[in-house]
Amino acid sequence: MINVIRTKDYEEASDKAFEVMKEYLKPGKVLGLATGSTPLGLYARMVKDHQENGTSYKEIRSFNLDEYVGLPISHPESYYAFMHHNLFDHIDIPEENTHVPSGLGEDLEGQARHYDEMIDACPVDIQLLGIGSDGHIAFNEPGTPFDSGTHVTDLAESTIKDNCRFFDNDITKVPTQAVTQGIGTIMKAKAILLIATGSNKAKAVKEMLEGPVDVSCPASILQRHENVTVIIDEDAAALLG
Ligand code: GLP
Repeated sequence: MINVIRTKDYEEASDKAFEVMKEYLKPGKVLGLATGSTPLGLYARMVKDHQENGTSYKEIRSFNLDEYVGLPISHPESYYAFMHHNLFDHIDIPEENTHVPSGLGEDLEGQARHYDEMIDACPVDIQLLGIGSDGHIAFNEPGTPFDSGTHVTDLAESTIKDNCRFFDNDITKVPTQAVTQGIGTIMKAKAILLIATGSNKAKAVKEMLEGPVDVSCPASILQRHENVTVIIDEDAAALLG
């Protein structure tokens, strides 16, 4: 079941997301974390809450959704670096409690299977998601099977264009592949929190909430999950009936 929360704008969406996330900031909880510009407001609120209220992450664990293939963790646009820069370095989560898939190594598919085994041993309590303008979740592009596990994938042309802004607006610098949790992996999370803001997401939001459950819109599978909260601002909700 999808519980839709509508907000005025990005800031209010981030406030609401923090209200949902706050319930999970407790010892023993396992957070599924996401990258992209969408969760930045939520992460800023988590950092502020840690600094001002002392909320501790010492006994919290995290699993990230995805990583670009071929970027070393020292690359500023690697998702490993993103997570450290925007969240991990500002809270007290132990490094060994955090997990970001590696996009480097001889056996990426073997590493992907190991990532799923770790998640199976440590089920995610709440998975945070953004959504791509083509309806992708993590890097599961249209056409990805709903039962997929963590795997290596090619990025869609539209995703490469969307992410160009993070790579000096130079399309040749954007990685063309990623390691991503599969849709099957994501659906195992006990609860899911998806945030979508801005008119660029309006079409994907409509297909996710009102379209058929179909691989052409990967996020539409969330209609089949029992505990989903979707937070959307006015621009992202513009095409809803
Ligand atoms: C990226 C990430 C997704 C993210 C999406 C939207 O490619 N792999 O996890 O949700 O695209 O990004 P943004 O929040 O910057 O719009």
